[in-house]
Amino acid sequence: MKKNIVIFGGSFDPVHKGHINIVNSILNTIELEQLIIVPSKMGPWKQRTLTDGYKRLEMLKLAFPNNPKITISDFEIKNSSISYTYKLIDHFKEKYPEYQLNFVIGEDQALNFTKWNKWKRIIENANIIVAKRFIKNKFPEKLSLIKDKINFIELDSKIINVSSTFIRKGHFKNNVPLAVNSYIGKEGLYIGDILQNHLSNYRYFHCLNVGKWAGKIAEKFNLDPKKAYIAGCLHDITKEWPFKEQYAYLKNFGLEGEKINIPVLHSFTGAFWVNEEYGINDRDIISSIIKHTTAHENMSDFDKAIFVADKVCDDRDYPNVEEYRKLALEDLELAFKKILIYQYRRTKKKVGRKKMNRRTIMAVATHAFSEIFKTEENK
Ligand SMILES: [Fe+2]
Ligand SMILES: [Fe+2]
Repeated sequence: MKKNIVIFGGSFDPVHKGHINIVNSILNTIELEQLIIVPSKMGPWKQRTLTDGYKRLEMLKLAFPNNPKITISDFEIKNSSISYTYKLIDHFKEKYPEYQLNFVIGEDQALNFTKWNKWKRIIENANIIVAKRFIKNKFPEKLSLIKDKINFIELDSKIINVSSTFIRKGHFKNNVPLAVNSYIGKEGLYIGDILQNHLSNYRYFHCLNVGKWAGKIAEKFNLDPKKAYIAGCLHDITKEWPFKEQYAYLKNFGLEGEKINIPVLHSFTGAFWVNEEYGINDRDIISSIIKHTTAHENMSDFDKAIFVADKVCDDRDYPNVEEYRKLALEDLELAFKKILIYQYRRTKKKVGRKKMNRRTIMAVATHAFSEIFKTEENK
């Protein structure tokens, strides 16, 4: 009898625990020589632009480390054309003529299998393994129809009911392996989906603008533009959560949200969210999100870049914004100082000095002492 090679294709955008479950089921059910996981270039029916193939490949490597039975193949992503399964099978047939090829598909794909391009050629060269996606009795009738046409091998896999679409909207924790989660955060993947899922239209564009400006400022002042873009895009990520939800969220981390002013709340919940859910461990990004509302006595250049980007981005409109915008790309220190003073005066006028956030007062005292406390404030 020929030895088995199992091929598992998909977009893996990103690879998640459902995929890991399928792989584990295959390894436990089928005696095989190799399990080859092949991220696709672009499926014939896919409308969405997929994340860069090599990044999806990297996530797969992180999800399946150190298993000699598993190979991650770049066959499709290095190809320039659309991914067709028959081409993939042809390729491996030629490469491993002495092996029995098996191709894994989901139960939902099985229902449409006879619509696939050259499907007969596929089953001539490979067995089909159906990985069950749904609860047992949901599709037995439909499935049995195709069962007669194709040689199905059913896997009894406990599939986690999770989809990449859901995950991309910002539900990473517990759905993707930790190493994949950290990679997603580090590379800033799925930011558009996350922002769209969390924010109103207005705030979505604001965040993209801040990301863009943060990147621009970072480039100008020798900071990391990619990190600045990520921090800028995500600085307001929890701003539209209901306050009660934000207070409850902070309690998970042992913080008493009630002691934090409502307008400042999202700096903390946002920082926790990017760390906890998005997998970002970068200190600069987290610190800049925490400090972007009130500023702080200790501000690094990176903190200042995000603070300034938030106040000069394209959707901001107030008397001196053009001047600050120009200054933001010429002299970050001065832009920061001027904006801080402007914000301090405006807030003081609005709520009175006594109600001002202590952190803002400390920030002004540290960064603009002579301008505020020696002159105007003592008058
Ligand atoms: Fe904010
Ligand atoms: Fe903002």
